[in-house]
Amino acid sequence: MMVVSETDASARPILVEALVETLIDKVNLRQKLSLFSEQWSPKIVGELNGQMVKLVKFTGEFVWHHHDHEDEMFLVVAGRFRIDFRDRSVWIEEGEFIVVPRGVEHRPVAEQEAHVLLFEPASTLNTGNVDNERTRKELQSI
Ligand code: NI
Repeated sequence: MMVVSETDASARPILVEALVETLIDKVNLRQKLSLFSEQWSPKIVGELNGQMVKLVKFTGEFVWHHHDHEDEMFLVVAGRFRIDFRDRSVWIEEGEFIVVPRGVEHRPVAEQEAHVLLFEPASTLNTGNVDNERTRKELQSI
């Protein structure tokens, strides 16, 4: 890191600017989504307060599962998907989101590819209480 002496006041704005550019940057969802095509494999695009912002693409049916300790938010960036609960289903359209409370069994289903932003604690496993071929334990940051 650059060191600026207390007396060198003229250099301070440059340091601040450099820090802002390094640590604080906007995220463009379309640009991030252009970086991967793999399905059912969430990518980390942000982190705050122990929560992760993730992007995922998927088509078809996921596995029924629940999360013992985490509430999970799904926000549709492009396309649409259906989330099945044991007693009903809800379609989530582009620009809409749903929060699935901890403990509630759910299954995302997309007839055509959906692009979805997830917001949930870092510890959240995509398949919750289920461990199968869809489980992703190590997520990539993009
Ligand atoms: Ni889930």
